[in-house]
Amino acid sequence: MCGIIGYNGIRQATNILIDSLKRLEYRGYDSAGIAVLNNKAIEVYKDKGRIIELERDLPEIISTVGIGHTRWATHGKPNKANAHPHTSGDIAVVHNGIIENYEHLRDRLTQLGYVFVSETDTEALAHLINHYYRNNLMDAVVSALNDIKGSYAIAVLCGSELVAARKDSPLIIGIGDNENFIASDIPAILKYTRNIIYLDDMEVACVTPDCVSIFDINKRQIEKTVNTIDWDLEAAEKSGYDHFMLKEIHEQPRALHETFAGRISELEGNITFDGLNLTEEEIRSISRISIIACGTSFNAGLLGKYLFEYMTHIHVDVEIASEFRYAHSSPGSLVIAISQSGETADTLAALREAKSFGCRTLAITNVVGSTITREVDSVIYTRSGPEIGVAATKTFLSQVGVLYLLSLYFGKLKGIISSDRIKLMLVSLKKLSAQIRRILDDKESIRYCAEAFAPANDVFFIGRTFNYPIALEGALKLKEISYIHAEGYAAGELKHGPLALIANNTPVVAIATRGPIYDKMVNNIKEVKAREAPVIAIADEKDSEIEKYVDTVIRVPSTEYVLSPVLSTVVVQLFSYYVAKSRKCPIDQPRNLAKSVTVE
Ligand code: AGP
Repeated sequence: MCGIIGYNGIRQATNILIDSLKRLEYRGYDSAGIAVLNNKAIEVYKDKGRIIELERDLPEIISTVGIGHTRWATHGKPNKANAHPHTSGDIAVVHNGIIENYEHLRDRLTQLGYVFVSETDTEALAHLINHYYRNNLMDAVVSALNDIKGSYAIAVLCGSELVAARKDSPLIIGIGDNENFIASDIPAILKYTRNIIYLDDMEVACVTPDCVSIFDINKRQIEKTVNTIDWDLEAAEKSGYDHFMLKEIHEQPRALHETFAGRISELEGNITFDGLNLTEEEIRSISRISIIACGTSFNAGLLGKYLFEYMTHIHVDVEIASEFRYAHSSPGSLVIAISQSGETADTLAALREAKSFGCRTLAITNVVGSTITREVDSVIYTRSGPEIGVAATKTFLSQVGVLYLLSLYFGKLKGIISSDRIKLMLVSLKKLSAQIRRILDDKESIRYCAEAFAPANDVFFIGRTFNYPIALEGALKLKEISYIHAEGYAAGELKHGPLALIANNTPVVAIATRGPIYDKMVNNIKEVKAREAPVIAIADEKDSEIEKYVDTVIRVPSTEYVLSPVLSTVVVQLFSYYVAKSRKCPIDQPRNLAKSVTVE
């Protein structure tokens, strides 16, 4: 997704802009550009392709103020004309988001004599600001924003004036010594400052080298808190792993530990959340829950459904956020939005829809201060640490960790789960980190297996009940990073259609940990074996039966059946990673995908 950087200070702006843009590469982009004030004139350098190419082609520039952008195409092709910054006269603009009324604005501005040179919505904003400009950039920006519909995070440069604003798209201000920054994401500027202001919707910031002034859209000045970031840039870099994804898979024991820290006491069987804001009585009165999410977070939500229904007997609907918005029936009395980034436009739109029904809302997210956290009644943070790889791994596992705690807590209050059972579950939950480490220590066996199947064109992942969401997640991981066609199926559903696709060149990953319907799962494995499919089973280390039915077994440590999805997840992540590595795919930045999807 698009990235924004802005700088106003005393150092060479180009160096800082380029360096910061490189730190935003993980968000995914197809073109990049900068605009700087060079000797009283704004100069723009931009092109399709990588930042390193943009840097290579830059001339010698002396400038201490500028803006930069990485673009992920939404309006118009990825090319030089459509790359940001966009200019109009002396105004240069970078923008994330979508201006919904841009065609109307384009007609209006064309009639006023403005000439459009790109296919982007952002160019209309540049002309609009120019149209309103009367020697005060902030006034012009505010007037222009009042005319636009849609979402935006923007940085605008005019001479040495630098202004930022946001609505429905993340933007932060970094506070330095005699220099200040604008960025769409913290890692972009963490090298330069740890002091961050989170801009809220409809706020505008004027950024000079020694001052940041923030105003609401009515130009009333407002006081904002400066937050200190306590995680390191190193934590946002690869630490010696080949890819962020592999590093983040290895960070999962720690992430899960953090998710549970301070929230569980296995001796007393207690679970506590600081941001829940729901009384015990309110929880007891919940009769239906709706979970809304996208992609990997949806898969976590689906596991949440199985967990809540098992532990609380509350009916749960899990909805793809982009579909939920258009449903015609009301959601449950509690709506849980799951989003690692907290910025996913589809999830935010669904959440706003849910709020219009008067439901209680709860967010499970990883990003403190993200948009979603400011729109819900309650927030539970997953505490996974920054995740850079586009393919979500540790954030998924931490979401699942929160869902275990939440469903157990609700189940206790509803009287469905006994105190003794909760204590046992909490003990088993706490053991998961060490058990994940054992899987990681044995990752070479997964690599060996993955490399054998890397040439496949189609792969199926199958599982039942609690393992079904992990089958979906395995298929999603494999397709997004290896570009292999993969399907996740409830194993009992294969015979209703997809079995027609199974043949001796269709590997099947069967998640077959022991549980109440293990025998039925074995029957499903026999169905695919009968079609000569090579089968890789993910099975309990104590299961001595499974090898009779499959070609390869990947073992996971023994745990409660309902908790085994956590361990199987790590296997499907590593399997997908090694397949993609063997196929030499760009694992951390898969084609066409972005880390934070802030458009609907
Ligand atoms: C995960 O690997 C994907 N990149 C994607 O499906 C992601 O989970 C989805 O876009 C939702 O993102 P969110 O959790 O930030 O809302």
